Amino acid sequence: FRILMIGAPVDSGKTRPGCLMGPDAFRSARLQGALEDLGHEVRDLGNVVPDAVDIAPRDGLHALPETIGWTQSLSRTAKAAMADGLPIFLGGDHSLSLGTVHGVAAHAAEIGKPLFVLWLDAHSDFHTPRTTQSGNLHGTPMAYLTGRDGFDGFPPVPHPVPEANVCLLGLRSVDGPEQEMLSQTAIRRHDMREIDEYGIATPIRAFLADVAAAGGMLHVSLDVDFLDPAVAPAVGTTVPGGATVREAHLVMEMLHDSGLMCSMDLVELNPMLDERGRSAQVMVDLAASALGRRVFDRPTPRLL
Ligand code: ARG
Ligand code: MN
Ligand code: MN
Ligand code: MN
Repeated sequence: FRILMIGAPVDSGKTRPGCLMGPDAFRSARLQGALEDLGHEVRDLGNVVPDAVDIAPRDGLHALPETIGWTQSLSRTAKAAMADGLPIFLGGDHSLSLGTVHGVAAHAAEIGKPLFVLWLDAHSDFHTPRTTQSGNLHGTPMAYLTGRDGFDGFPPVPHPVPEANVCLLGLRSVDGPEQEMLSQTAIRRHDMREIDEYGIATPIRAFLADVAAAGGMLHVSLDVDFLDPAVAPAVGTTVPGGATVREAHLVMEMLHDSGLMCSMDLVELNPMLDERGRSAQVMVDLAASALGRRVFDRPTPRLL
């Protein structure tokens, strides 16, 4: 297969600017070369632009029309890219997943495969525009993609991701209303306490086994704040106590072994907040692990 790099310089999902520089930071950290070194054919398709939409702003929601415009254009782009290879969306804040996963879901429905989503994040991003306290729409994609109400003005969601197909991993900041709504769903959720106690391989192994058993395809959404801020400071929503570099690589390596990943978002990188590019670099290294970088071959992936 071919890897498609698609820039999504979305900065409308929260008030603090900077994520619009994310795609170029990933390029400057040599994502393309890292993937080519693994033997992949990689094409950089440049950056997507948002649709112009005729939608009124709404009080209490930051940049609603712009975010809807991005959702439309990214959904179309993602759906088209899926027919062509494995897209990696270079964010951009996490509101870009409103569009990318929407488009991936449309493709999955078309080819008749169940879609699964792995959300690597300190946050659950399970607010709706009605429950958000911050007004930041980057805190809402998981609710939208699983088909919750409250997303007036956004494209309808004809192919919601089934709750049981979603795995939230790395949680350590979940707002009250999100806790409440999540508790009424079948969404799998693993907080840092669980990772500390059982190791990160345990939940990921179980999830990947279920994706494989269902004959599914897997979208992976990697938020910089999944990682501990000590190793990835370039994000506006840092929460202490995140995944270590090794835990994150293990997840990526197991994803590669599984052969199930069909698409990926790299989100929330804010180069304004980085230190000599180290957060961009760790994200590029993680993407490389997810696409096959390793020290030694393992004759039989012991995953499934
Ligand atoms: N729950 C908080 C909010 O809704 C934080 C969300 C952070 N999301 C993210 N994609 N970084 O504002
Ligand atoms: Mn997020
Ligand atoms: Mn987050
Ligand atoms: Mn937020």
